[in-house]
Amino acid sequence: MGKKKRILSGMRPTGPLHLGNLLGALANWVKMQDEYDCYFFIADWHALTSDYENTDSIINYRKEIMLDWLSAGLTPEKSTLFVQSSVKEHAELFLLLSMITPVPWLERNPTYKEQIGALSNKDLSTFGFLGYPVLQAADIIIYKPQGVPVGIDQAPHVEITREIARRFNHLYGRVFPEPETILTETPKILGTDRRKMSKSYENAIFLSDSPDEIRAKVATMITDPQRARRSDPGNPDVCNVFDFHKLYTQPDSVRQIDTQCRTAKIGCVECKQEMARNLAAALAPIRDKRAYYEQRPELVEEIMIEGGNRARKTARQTMEQVREAIQI
Ligand code: TRP
Ligand code: SF4
Repeated sequence: MGKKKRILSGMRPTGPLHLGNLLGALANWVKMQDEYDCYFFIADWHALTSDYENTDSIINYRKEIMLDWLSAGLTPEKSTLFVQSSVKEHAELFLLLSMITPVPWLERNPTYKEQIGALSNKDLSTFGFLGYPVLQAADIIIYKPQGVPVGIDQAPHVEITREIARRFNHLYGRVFPEPETILTETPKILGTDRRKMSKSYENAIFLSDSPDEIRAKVATMITDPQRARRSDPGNPDVCNVFDFHKLYTQPDSVRQIDTQCRTAKIGCVECKQEMARNLAAALAPIRDKRAYYEQRPELVEEIMIEGGNRARKTARQTMEQVREAIQI
């Protein structure tokens, strides 16, 4: 592992993972495991920044997500998989970085402004919520990774991380490399109602869904809205089901469906059934691995603990350098 470039990324435990998470992040992480020295963690402290009133689901989601990760192919043999709150050094570095981070950097943060607007039902006027990117910066630079694979929505946070690292180095001497953003393409897949796939919209297909659940959800999907009757020709270009076919159905079958839809030779019911079958088949290996780990909760627990131990070792080394640099 020593020679490989290091990358790090994290997810907040806000719910079981869905296809959007798989295509937008997780599948990419699984691939990166062979090329990089990977650190992946569950950001449970970050979940508190907006959900501090409702903490009872965090523990469960933490387990769910670790199960999802292992099922999708992350493995402790290749990656360090851990939980943020089990490495307290993140909190110490967060505190020290908070001393040198100008508040206007945080107030300018586009995600901050967006979320304050979007989540107006929650009181987000807390110090912790404003400081979200400082904690994220600590999460990242404590492992000195070269890159951080994230979706475009997280890019501003990696940018603030670089600024904080630069400021630290300027003040105390060079301790931290500035990590690069490794942009992951956002998936071209929408939820069953054609909005962005999200647990809170109840339009998500989860990695843990059974073939029956997948079939039922696919059956509710909106197709070409212009296609009112079975005898009407359809337009696959505007159909969400067809976008799924492009990902989960063999290319020659996709071409066939394209023609059959345009000539009303295939109905939406049948078309959806075929897609649901292919999607369920594509997720079968994930479901099988999940069944394996579900039967071994102590193994999953051990993986998390062992990952935490490994991460802590690296984090402690960095913190020694940090304390020495600050002379504290
Ligand atoms: N903010 C990230 C998200 O909501 C989660 C996260 C926390 C993270 N710390 C991180 C991602 C460090 C990458 C690196 O998805
Ligand atoms: Fe969409 Fe298939 Fe119906 Fe065509 S036949 S509109 S591709 S679901």
